[in-house]
Amino acid sequence: MPRVTRRRRAARSWARWWVRSRVQRRRFVQAVTAPTVLAVVIGFIAGLHYGPPRTATLPTGTGQPRSDYQDLLSRGRYLATIGVCEACHTPPEVPDEKAAPGNHVQAAAERNYRTDPDWFRYLDPVRRNAGGVPFIIRMSKDMGGVVYSRNITPDRETGIGTWTEDDIVRALRTGVTPDGRQLFMFAPHTFFPNLADTDARALAVYLKSMPAVRYRVPDRSLPFDPPPAAPADPPVDPPTGRGPERAEYLTASIVGCAECHSHHENGKLQEYTGGDPSDAFIGVFRLGPDLPLRADEKGLSAFPYPGYAVLYGGNLTKFGQDGPLSAVSEDDLVRAIRQGVKVEPDAYGRPRPLEHVMLWQFYAGMTDDDAYSIAALVKQLSYVEHDVPAGVIRFGEDWRAAFQQAFGEPPSEHDAELFGK
Ligand code: HEC
Ligand code: HEC
Repeated sequence: MPRVTRRRRAARSWARWWVRSRVQRRRFVQAVTAPTVLAVVIGFIAGLHYGPPRTATLPTGTGQPRSDYQDLLSRGRYLATIGVCEACHTPPEVPDEKAAPGNHVQAAAERNYRTDPDWFRYLDPVRRNAGGVPFIIRMSKDMGGVVYSRNITPDRETGIGTWTEDDIVRALRTGVTPDGRQLFMFAPHTFFPNLADTDARALAVYLKSMPAVRYRVPDRSLPFDPPPAAPADPPVDPPTGRGPERAEYLTASIVGCAECHSHHENGKLQEYTGGDPSDAFIGVFRLGPDLPLRADEKGLSAFPYPGYAVLYGGNLTKFGQDGPLSAVSEDDLVRAIRQGVKVEPDAYGRPRPLEHVMLWQFYAGMTDDDAYSIAALVKQLSYVEHDVPAGVIRFGEDWRAAFQQAFGEPPSEHDAELFGK
């Protein structure tokens, strides 16, 4: 047989097989391609989520290469944790409406929230950073108002979704929002003007990465215009590593130890010397069962507790140079800060828990470097004699007595109205 014919015949029989087996072929192709395509798609998606960090410049909204973006994001998440944003910006996990009579499940949930000192457990995971937590602000016996934490998720209608990163940085630093409002800056917002450029940006990047939550927060009602933020001269990059510089930076810019462990004397802030009723904004905490949960609710207390009580932020200079507790180690201080274990055990040598007002549940995420830097800062403080009552002072049902302790004067009529009494 000539070679050509043989080749032709072979070609013909191949063609015949090809035609005949079209059905099998389609099945074969389907059988092979479907899983392959699926595997490629899954692999691609997995690669997006779990793949090694990409260094190519991808559009991230920051104009930064992707790896820088990841660094900013994780730094922002860390700062938001130790800066306790969620403690104030996340509403409790209770429905917007009060429990209807007979709805025992919801009533019990509310009672738990209002009376369990471990309040962090009741923050709503679905409304993280969606705001709306009312803060009743008392300026004097006849002046006060209410400020609501704002929705800082990227929802475009009810949150800060239309704000650019620069807008967020400016609002944190100066308290001025893109629409020209001056925020009422109470601690820790008063510290944020000192945030390094890259740290403020990291927080902005993190906030923009959060899931948007649609949740409308009422407008604040204050009988005065909030003052502008104090001028500051923040660095571009924060100091890093372990040491006094890092501790100074953290406590001046985001970790509000001084907010709760200070008092005013002769118009000057006496840092770390312990709280005082002369300034109930800082250092003295009202605990009680009428914690306002909803926008239309009022209450005396800032932190949940079974009965009315008052708690002071202690004098931290006791642990400093020449202080009566100067022998306390940095390890013990770090244990107090991150694990909520009181520095001194009880009379039987057993460890005692710190109240949850001391934000150790958030500080639990603090790095060793940061926690030990701050502990070292405390050890370096010079002792200032200033006695504050230790532990929770309980008043049972007597809110007037608790008020007197918290503010240093009996409640006025205006106070009673302000706190819904
Ligand atoms: C002690 C409670 C508290 C903590 C902690 C706190 N905030 Fe706020 N924040 C508020 C309140 C209250 C307002 C609203 C002030 C006003 O309306 O004048 C506010 C407003 C804001 C705003 C302005 C939003 C707007 O729509 O105007 C931003 C942004 C913000 N906070 C971010 C943060 C970040 C980021 C953190 C953590 C690093 C943080 N906050 C920690 C209470 C807090
Ligand atoms: C929101 C308020 C608040 C903030 C912020 C805060 N503390 Fe406290 N801290 C308290 C209160 C209140 C107590 C007393 C708790 C108790 O007696 O159970 C306390 C207790 C402590 C104690 C334990 C003292 C002892 O006798 O055992 C240490 C140490 C301490 N704080 C250090 C710090 C440091 C350091 C920071 C900053 C990283 C800080 N605190 C931030 C409110 C606060």
